[in-house]
Amino acid sequence: MGLTYFKRYRMEIDLSGRAWNLPPLPLGYDVLPWDFDQIEHHAYAKYASFRGELDSNVFPCLGEFDGCLRLMHEIQSKQGFLSGATWLVSHCEAGDLEMDFCGTVQGIRDRTGFGAIQNLGVVPEHRGLGLGRTLMIYALRGFQAAGLSRAYLEVTSQNDGAVQLYEDLGFRRARTVYKAVEMVEVG
Ligand SMILES: CC(C)(COP(=O)(O)OP(=O)(O)OC[C@H]1O[C@@H](n2cnc3c(N)ncnc32)[C@H](O)[C@@H]1OP(=O)(O)O)[C@@H](O)C(=O)NCCC(=O)NCCS
Repeated sequence: MGLTYFKRYRMEIDLSGRAWNLPPLPLGYDVLPWDFDQIEHHAYAKYASFRGELDSNVFPCLGEFDGCLRLMHEIQSKQGFLSGATWLVSHCEAGDLEMDFCGTVQGIRDRTGFGAIQNLGVVPEHRGLGLGRTLMIYALRGFQAAGLSRAYLEVTSQNDGAVQLYEDLGFRRARTVYKAVEMVEVG
């Protein structure tokens, strides 16, 4: 075992008076509000978005379905959990009855009154369609509807696509933090 330090940015956004344009939702996709009965779908979408990605090294629970389900239960039971900032994306092929779940985001109000974004994720086959941006805009509007004036998130510095998305939406780097992770050395 060895300690690895991951460089992460805390990014913040001032929500007052801010509005975002939603990209058009591609055919077959839907954005669903929080419903406890969908908790396993959130967990699955989270797991399928993060497995094999950088952040599953930083937070190993993200690389396992059970870990994601545990995390979803923890998040939704927090005092500051904001259902209005928590969204799920479903997808259904034309002519298909089966629905799959391919994107998730959750939001909480932290003790300082900030909105805190938790684990935005879009499943690889559904990326590049505007779903990540859509989920984030829904979550930020949820914070605004709850009366919050600032929000933040943390992102691993090497996650260029996510950093780009957050900067486009108006987030700015507030500080750099290092997350120490015990990694198993291979070889
Ligand atoms: C980050 C993530 C949520 C983006 O989801 P997505 O649905 O592909 O994002 P969108 O299609 O809405 O893209 C929005 C913008 O993000 C940026 N972006 C997203 N992926 C990018 C990439 N691979 N490279 C560069 N820019 C990227 C672009 O600015 C893009 O805008 P554009 O389409 O106008 O160029 C997705 O890649 C993901 O789930 N990654 C793994 C999990 C993760 O790291 N989550 C973030 C944790 S902080």
